[in-house]
Parts: sequence; structure tokens; C-alpha cells
Amino acid sequence: MKRILAFGASTSSTSINKQFAHYAAHQIKDAELILVDLNDFETPLYSMDIEISDGIPDSVKRFKECIESMDGLIISLAEHNGNFAAAFKSLTDWVSRLEGKIWSDKKMLLLSTSPGGRGGKSVHELASAAFPRQGATITGSFSLPSFNQNLTSEGITDPELAKSFAEQLELFSASL
Ligand SMILES: Cc1cc2nc3c(=O)[nH]c(=O)nc-3n(C[C@H](O)[C@H](O)[C@H](O)COP(=O)(O)O)c2cc1C
Repeated sequence: MKRILAFGASTSSTSINKQFAHYAAHQIKDAELILVDLNDFETPLYSMDIEISDGIPDSVKRFKECIESMDGLIISLAEHNGNFAAAFKSLTDWVSRLEGKIWSDKKMLLLSTSPGGRGGKSVHELASAAFPRQGATITGSFSLPSFNQNLTSEGITDPELAKSFAEQLELFSASL
């Protein structure tokens, strides 16, 4: 059975991106889902001084081992001022100090959402350009605007968005 890691790139206890990533994972049939919280991999803010004095934190090594043991990754990005949430950026900076590429040549479903109408499009575009250079094979990609209106207990309510999401999910599933 394929193993899929899903998390929101946010440390908020009420993260809508964590909710969205986990929701997406639950739509995939016949897969082993590993649903995590970014807080499970807490690290100090990346600093070369800390790296030299204390080495790379165990939480970073655990995160990388976790990625390596997967067939696919589902990441939903929180957008902070058009960019990654600081904790996520810092964690990926730490991972880049280990051997190999950050995303270990894994297939990825790249998501984002926000309460606003752009759905985190800026950070989604940033990651779409950067992650392939960091060893991700993005096989599905989707931004969900206006999270609170568009994702309910019934799923994605807007028919066009639901169709587009289902297509991207299928592309990702088929790539595993
Ligand atoms: C510091 C900060 C900056 C933000 N910047 C943006 C932004 O640039 N674009 C956007 O759509 N939302 C922005 N937001 C709103 C976030 O999209 C919103 O807080 C969202 O819930 C974050 O995702 P999360 O719940 O998964 O943490 C920002 C929020 C914070 C706290």
C-alpha cells in the first residue's frame, strides 16, 4: 500500500492548511495515511551559529526520514505576506543542510488555502517554482480560495472548484 504524508505548512493550532491537507489525504483510496502536525517537528529558527554549536536538531532528521519513507507528500501552504510561514521555511532550511534534496524526489500534491479570495496563490507560485529544484515532483496542484466558505463538512461546495480539485487529486494518486 502506498504511504502518503500530509501536513499543513503552518504551526497554528487551528491551521486551515492542516485541515485541507488532511482532508485531501482522506480522499485517496487504498493508501496508508500519515497525518502530521508541523509542531511535531519543532526546531529553533535556522541559524548557522546554532548549526555549528549544536549540530542539526533530531527533529529535522526525523522529518527528513519521514519524507524518505513515503511514496507521496501532500503539503498545504499557509501564506504569510506572500511567503511561507516562518516555521516552515526554517524547517526546510534545516533539512537542506542534510544530505540529498529536501523533498527526496517524492511525488507531491501541492496545495494552499487562505480565508481570502486568492487562496494563498503567491506562496503557491513560489513553491511551484522552488520545490522541483529541491527534489519534488509536483504531480497535482491546487489552491482553494475562501476556505471558510468553500470547504464544509460536505466537502468542497463550489462545483468548479470541486471538479478541479478532484482532477488534481487523481493526477497525484495516479502518479504514485
Ligand atoms: C503574519 C500573517 C501574514 C499573512 N499574510 C497573508 C497573505 O499574504 N496572504 C493571504 O492570503 N493571507 C495572509 N494571512 C492570513 C492567512 O492566510 C490566515 O491566517 C490563514 O489561516 C493561515 O493559514 P493557517 O490557518 O493554515 O495557518 C496572513 C496571516 C498572518 C498571521
